[in-house]
Amino acid sequence: MLRYLTAGESHGKYLVGILEGMIAGLTIDTELVNRELSRRQAGYGRSPRMKIESDRIEILSGIRKSESIGGPIALLIKNRAERMEQLPSFTSPRPGHADLAGALKYNRRDLRDILERASARETACRVAVGSIARQLLREFKIELISHVVNIAGIKADTRGLSFTAIKSRVLRSKLNCGDQKAQAAMIAEIDKAGKEGDTVGGIFEVIIRGLPPGLGSYVHCDRKIDNRLAGAISSIQSIKAVEFGLGFSVSGKRGSEVHDEIFYKKGKGFYRHSNNAGGIEGGMTNGEDIVLRAAVKPISTLRRPLRSVDIVSKKPSRARFERADICVVPSAGVIGEAVAAFEIANLMLEKFGGDSLEEMKRNYQGYIKQISK
Ligand SMILES: Cc1cc2nc3c(=O)[nH]c(=O)nc-3n(C[C@H](O)[C@H](O)[C@H](O)COP(=O)(O)O)c2cc1C
Repeated sequence: MLRYLTAGESHGKYLVGILEGMIAGLTIDTELVNRELSRRQAGYGRSPRMKIESDRIEILSGIRKSESIGGPIALLIKNRAERMEQLPSFTSPRPGHADLAGALKYNRRDLRDILERASARETACRVAVGSIARQLLREFKIELISHVVNIAGIKADTRGLSFTAIKSRVLRSKLNCGDQKAQAAMIAEIDKAGKEGDTVGGIFEVIIRGLPPGLGSYVHCDRKIDNRLAGAISSIQSIKAVEFGLGFSVSGKRGSEVHDEIFYKKGKGFYRHSNNAGGIEGGMTNGEDIVLRAAVKPISTLRRPLRSVDIVSKKPSRARFERADICVVPSAGVIGEAVAAFEIANLMLEKFGGDSLEEMKRNYQGYIKQISK
């Protein structure tokens, strides 16, 4: 089983991650990890901090000569020079943040003590861990992509586009969006909100392809793949809803419009003409692509701050303004890919197990042979 821990604050010296349970014999390319870290920092609408910061990982353990050796993989990401000890204290909680509930829960009077760890800066570590998990998935030809499908109500139209077509469009897009026309309108909306001291949210989609059927299980609630993925995605800061396949829209449709009929061809095996289930039935992969979407709320820190109450004086105040992004939907999508990659890698290890890549591949191939009979 794979597990990980992260430590570190937004303006602390380092972010630290430990990934435990990785099999031996996996080639790990740290440049691929750095590339994912850059993707997390990019995206139209991020704050200028992202331009000065360029995350890179340092591997401290678990890898020798670019190969995993079975022990915990410890990694480090250096933060920029700013130090949290020198940053100002504040006592007016920002609505939409952990500030108020965190201060009450941990009995703190300086809200910076809450902000520093609640910040999404921590997701840099999750992206690094996810990128290593993704390198395991690559050995089994499992790939992930995320793309922005909605910003501030402006919808991208990517109907009928293949995984490869979406991927190539996204890689050329400032907003990770597969629809250029919609992207132009989205960028205009981000600029408008920024000028008005406001922020915008949206929706990203993650597609995972190359999955064998049978990852996850119906036999117990905590083994269901939709449970694992929804939990992981909704743990990302700002995510307020997660849906699979047709998602919320199933509620207004008839059964005959929703369920994906089953076909079989020798050599090809079982297949579907539609994927309304988003690749998951009964808590398991069904062999089709997993398609999930997540709603990202507009950033809470506003240049025109909302009303609040000072937690010390109890007098009405305005929420503190700290440098902030205007839109983080593309970055949230990259984080979504990473946490989903971790969950899928974990489920692959649960199903095919072993302690080395060779052993895991042997088990995987045995299963593929069994289900192709
Ligand atoms: C990549 C990313 C960057 C973020 N940047 C900011 C930011 O600059 N300012 C801000 O107020 N919130 C930002 N957020 C959102 C907050 O971290 C989040 O709203 C807050 O921690 C409260 O958590 P919740 O929204 O999940 O309830 C960001 C979120 C993500 C995913």
